[in-house]
Amino acid sequence: MDLETINKKLEKKLKPERYRHTQGVMYTAASMAMRYGYDIQEALTAGLLHDCGKFGTPKEQARLCKKYGITLSDAEMEVLPLIHAKLGAYLAKAEYEVENERILNAILYHTTGRPDMTMLEKIVYLADYIEPGRKMIPGLSEIRTLAFTDIDQAVCLCAKNTLAYLKWQARPVDTMTAKTYEFYSNK
Ligand SMILES: [Fe+2]
Ligand SMILES: [Fe+2]
Repeated sequence: MDLETINKKLEKKLKPERYRHTQGVMYTAASMAMRYGYDIQEALTAGLLHDCGKFGTPKEQARLCKKYGITLSDAEMEVLPLIHAKLGAYLAKAEYEVENERILNAILYHTTGRPDMTMLEKIVYLADYIEPGRKMIPGLSEIRTLAFTDIDQAVCLCAKNTLAYLKWQARPVDTMTAKTYEFYSNK
């Protein structure tokens, strides 16, 4: 499936603001690919599809996961943003014909990151956070600059901010984000 076809399908499936966000992530990911000498087409595809599982409520997303046989541990069920990432990686393959494992993993890990990420995983993780449509939050300007100057440091700060946000919201501790932060703060 080419980018244009995927784009049209997504525009029908996602809410307008979610669709606009995916466009921002797609072009931000492409810019970062240019900066780091990464394959631009892969970055565009991963950025465009990263939220393809983000429609309906988290409950509906969890129900779809069950229907498609995607396993979610109890801990994962607690971390709502994780569910659409798992569903998205599944749908990218099943509905958008993406076979490229690098792209599928970039979608799978876009909300939590993971230790020792691939270049594409780092690009999508950060592009999701810094795309131009994101509303200004503390630390965002710094992460935007670092994303183009020191990508590992950018990932570290991004995970740190996400953890602080979860804590502030009294949300369950997301162990994968914690592991991501630990790995990149020691790098
Ligand atoms: Fe997402
Ligand atoms: Fe996103």
